[in-house]
Amino acid sequence: ISNDNQSVLSAYEWLTKLYHHLLRYAKDGKDGYQYFKDRGISDEAIDIFQLGYAPNLKDFTAEFLNKKGFNQAILVKAGLLSLQDDNSVTDRFRGRVMFPIRNNLGKTIGFGGRTISGGEPKYLNSAESELFQKSKLLYNFDLAKKHIRKENEVILFEGYMDVISAYQADIKNVIATLGTSLTEGQAKLLKRYVDTVIICYDGDKAGLEATYKAANLLRKVGCQIKVANLKDNMDPDNFIKMHGGEAFNNEVIQASDTYISFYMRYLMKDYNLSLEGDRINYIEAVVKELAMIESSVEREFYLQQLSKEYNISIETLASELQGHRQQVD
Ligand code: UTP
Ligand code: MN
Ligand code: MN
Ligand code: MN
Ligand code: MN
Repeated sequence: ISNDNQSVLSAYEWLTKLYHHLLRYAKDGKDGYQYFKDRGISDEAIDIFQLGYAPNLKDFTAEFLNKKGFNQAILVKAGLLSLQDDNSVTDRFRGRVMFPIRNNLGKTIGFGGRTISGGEPKYLNSAESELFQKSKLLYNFDLAKKHIRKENEVILFEGYMDVISAYQADIKNVIATLGTSLTEGQAKLLKRYVDTVIICYDGDKAGLEATYKAANLLRKVGCQIKVANLKDNMDPDNFIKMHGGEAFNNEVIQASDTYISFYMRYLMKDYNLSLEGDRINYIEAVVKELAMIESSVEREFYLQQLSKEYNISIETLASELQGHRQQVD
């Protein structure tokens, strides 16, 4: 690790403590504290996740780091401070609650900062750098690891708040990507720790599309997957706030779909099932996917389901499937 990176790590360590202390104990941080209280986050969770607040001031952070003797050019390069047109430096994070993003060793290597006043962007993250690469990181992986191993299952969320809400509800094998699609590198990392990944993305259109992509990537690297089904634009954090952790576990996590059930639901978006032509095309598309399933018992199970739901004889469906099987065998 280079001297510059060492210095950036040290700045992150100071700032994690500073922002957390402000949020927890100082007048300058009370807006941030109130924000988390309004969202139902406990003091304990605030401490575990080292949540903080960066005040809405022009050079609060810049001054603090300057006094500590940090080289400003290095901090600008790391995306902790911003360089102005007149070459002066200002704070990048202002008036935002701060989510430290930790590496495998529990060291802060970046921040996600959420506006508390409706500004844009909603979340501002540290700039990409050698130290902070969103495509390689998973939020909370360091704390979740031992629970993931124990349960042989991991729950994958979209957001920081989803992770924190679940953790607070005592569901601890939880991680999230950092606002980007799941990458092959992240999928391979997960494969080293677990067999089963439960994808639990937001119940909106973006969440559905992201689920499809993540599901196939995870299957490709050999993970078993399950897919939670959140409805009505809910996200995991909303659901837990509204119905509690136990309902979340029983009605969302334990009730997760198999990949193929998810796929049947996912495919529906491209078809208008009240039209006969669409219905036929839909069924053919599903059968084609069913043909890929290795277990004949499983294939049979889904064929029965289709047969009942669309009132088509099982023989017809089976012979259609057989046609596709020949290409697999
Ligand atoms: P969401 O829009 O679902 O946000 O984005 P959220 O996690 O539910 O946040 P709250 O509940 O409104 O506070 C999911 C994730 O995408 C990233 C963040 O990591 C966020 O948690 N994101 C989102 C960004 O990086 N930038 C943005 O502007 C928005
Ligand atoms: Mn603390
Ligand atoms: Mn979302
Ligand atoms: Mn969300
Ligand atoms: Mn949310």
